[in-house]
Amino acid sequence: MKIAIIGSGRMGGTLGRKWAEHGHAVMFGSRDPESERVLSLLKSAPRAKAGTVQEAASFGDVLVLAVPPEEVERTLGLAGDLKDKILINLTNRYDGLSADSEVIRLAPKARVVRAFHTLPWEVLANPQFGAAEATAFLSGEDSEAKEVAACLARDIGLDPVDIGGAAEMKELEAVNARLWGLLSPRYGRDYGLRILRRHAEGN
Ligand SMILES: NC(=O)c1ccc[n+]([C@@H]2O[C@H](COP(=O)([O-])OP(=O)(O)OC[C@H]3O[C@@H](n4cnc5c(N)ncnc54)[C@H](OP(=O)(O)O)[C@@H]3O)[C@@H](O)[C@H]2O)c1
Repeated sequence: MKIAIIGSGRMGGTLGRKWAEHGHAVMFGSRDPESERVLSLLKSAPRAKAGTVQEAASFGDVLVLAVPPEEVERTLGLAGDLKDKILINLTNRYDGLSADSEVIRLAPKARVVRAFHTLPWEVLANPQFGAAEATAFLSGEDSEAKEVAACLARDIGLDPVDIGGAAEMKELEAVNARLWGLLSPRYGRDYGLRILRRHAEGN
């Protein structure tokens, strides 16, 4: 699969490196594709390449938006209309507004999936906890796009769980934030949630 990672930081760098290792064609879309940081990322992901945000957006069948929340509007403006592209939104906002609906509003032609945003980058880097893989919750209105995101999650050792649409994700995020408040003082950032289920429904 051709994957464009827009934003080459902790989240984007970790995901891109792992998908490239898995055999996907990865291009990082960066403000400065020749920066020391991007070149050093490419050394750790020799099969990946880097370009501008526009180049990556036209390269990828799947785009992963991994920039700071205040850069979402500017970055999507550079990316173009994204017609029929699958856009995985992992951005989070901390100002009470919805990162989910903002991206849907700004990229109306894209097939938007919300995924990976409930996991710290440390867990993306190593999702295995003993015999269990951490759960990656995903949501969205486009079932095929969600299935693609689920496959990409499995490829890097995560356990995808489809939570439904935007309303369900909002509820899940509130619970997740509450758990974070309770658990991170004891276990730091590197803990995972796993949803045990007897029958796989959807994901
Ligand atoms: N850190 C986590 O564990 C975590 C967990 C869940 C969700 N998230 C969300 O994921 C998104 C990315 O977080 P991150 O931790 O990966 O951030 P990060 O390490 O700071 O990386 C963000 C990347 O975005 C690009 N960027 C574009 N404009 C920027 C600007 N003005 N300032 C800084 N970087 C800019 C940069 O890549 P280029 O230089 O290549 O353009 C940068 O490397 C955020 O929306 C965050 O809320 C983070």
